[in-house]
Amino acid sequence: MNANSKRLHVITWGCQMNVYDSGRMADVLAPLGYAPTELAEAADMVILNTCHIRDRAAEKVFSELGRLRLLKQAREAAGGQMVLAVAGCVAQAEGAEILARAPYVDIVLGPQTYHRLPEMVARASRAAGAVIETDFPTEDKFDFLPDATAPTGPTAFLTIQEGCDKFCSFCVVPYTRGAEQSRSQATIVAEAKRLVAQGAREITLLGQNVNAWHGAAADGAPGTLGRLIEALAAIPDLLRIRYTTSHPRDMDDSLFAAHRDIPQLMPFLHLPVQSGSDRILSAMNRKHTAAEYLNIVERLRAARPDIALSSDFIVGHPGETGADFRATMALIEAVGFAQAYSFKYSPRPGTPAAAAQMQVAEDVKDARLQELQAKLRTQQAAFNAACAGQTVDVLFTGPGRHAGQLGGRSPWLQPVHADGPESLIGTVVPVKIVTGNPNSLTAMLPSHPLEQERPQA
Ligand code: 5AD
Ligand code: SF4
Repeated sequence: MNANSKRLHVITWGCQMNVYDSGRMADVLAPLGYAPTELAEAADMVILNTCHIRDRAAEKVFSELGRLRLLKQAREAAGGQMVLAVAGCVAQAEGAEILARAPYVDIVLGPQTYHRLPEMVARASRAAGAVIETDFPTEDKFDFLPDATAPTGPTAFLTIQEGCDKFCSFCVVPYTRGAEQSRSQATIVAEAKRLVAQGAREITLLGQNVNAWHGAAADGAPGTLGRLIEALAAIPDLLRIRYTTSHPRDMDDSLFAAHRDIPQLMPFLHLPVQSGSDRILSAMNRKHTAAEYLNIVERLRAARPDIALSSDFIVGHPGETGADFRATMALIEAVGFAQAYSFKYSPRPGTPAAAAQMQVAEDVKDARLQELQAKLRTQQAAFNAACAGQTVDVLFTGPGRHAGQLGGRSPWLQPVHADGPESLIGTVVPVKIVTGNPNSLTAMLPSHPLEQERPQA
């Protein structure tokens, strides 16, 4: 190892966008000699990449910072240094508060400024005091970042869009991530080609509102996500394409056509609905009704009959009655989800819903969440169980938990385990699903000896 090399420890909370951002922050610091370490106590720099979306975000950050402060003090007592940076959405929303309450923090940076990290590190290590960068700068950070480094396996994330203009009543994202911004098709395709050259076989396109992507297409005019996916599908060896997270209002014709026509686009869509009650959808400022959501599901299934759906739900938004909750349960029944995420409403300071009358009592939220999650668990288990006996294409992504085992994912994003040689990692193999477990599938390779030994019927 280079004697000058420094160690960087990144702690990532929250969404896939944060996972991608953490990777890019590591990329931008690599030329300064920072190499990743798993050990916070041995790090010359620690970045805490935070999430503000739900409960007790700030308290969680301060308690983690308390822990890191002890490590920083121990390192300084031993004659070393530890630059402590707080990034992500809590940094954006509460930057000043962080520096006031945790003055040992050296750098606070919002999601739009991480390309400026090298300069911030230089300023912080000149002992010029703490550095705070939480504006929404006019330059595009992607123009200032080095190329992304190699993905850690056959799957990779690629951010194509950031920010959100939707302003759902409950959500902090439009405030922390700012207005919608799309990267151009040319830069996205170039990054995808690099990822594929480095071994990626599946790319998940990321954005807070990914299907609102309207970056410059090849001809310079605003493009659509469907056409962008078409351009990406032309990259040889890119076997699978996914995108997340989408808003129902931005499902346009080009996207339905992409699901119909592009085999690399996987038959799985995470499409948050939040509630099945039109009254609550309106209070949430979602800009769609339950019937419109069901219509989208129908169109998707017509375009791609094997498509599976995932969603996000919030129970206990201000004003939600028992009847509203029943409407959500009815929507779940009508769709049949392959998986889903569900949350109790948690007031986010500064959002309209936090100031609304008629907050729902905590015990009511608890009871509703339990009932809703039980239903979603049943649907997920049924979806997985129905895979048993089928032959399914699996992208093997790495070794499994046991020796001789591989881990991978199905077209519907289910984790799959099968015994097989490591040479299959990075390839898509048709496998026979033996068992559909509640959270994963167990499979057998076609040429597995056990299968060959099975007596003929
Ligand atoms: N309370 C509960 N859940 C929330 N989400 C976003 N904001 C809140 C909040 N204030 C959920 C939504 C969103 C997902 C990422 O997090 O369901 O789709
Ligand atoms: Fe938040 Fe709504 Fe935007 Fe999604 S669409 S990021 S829930 S404001």
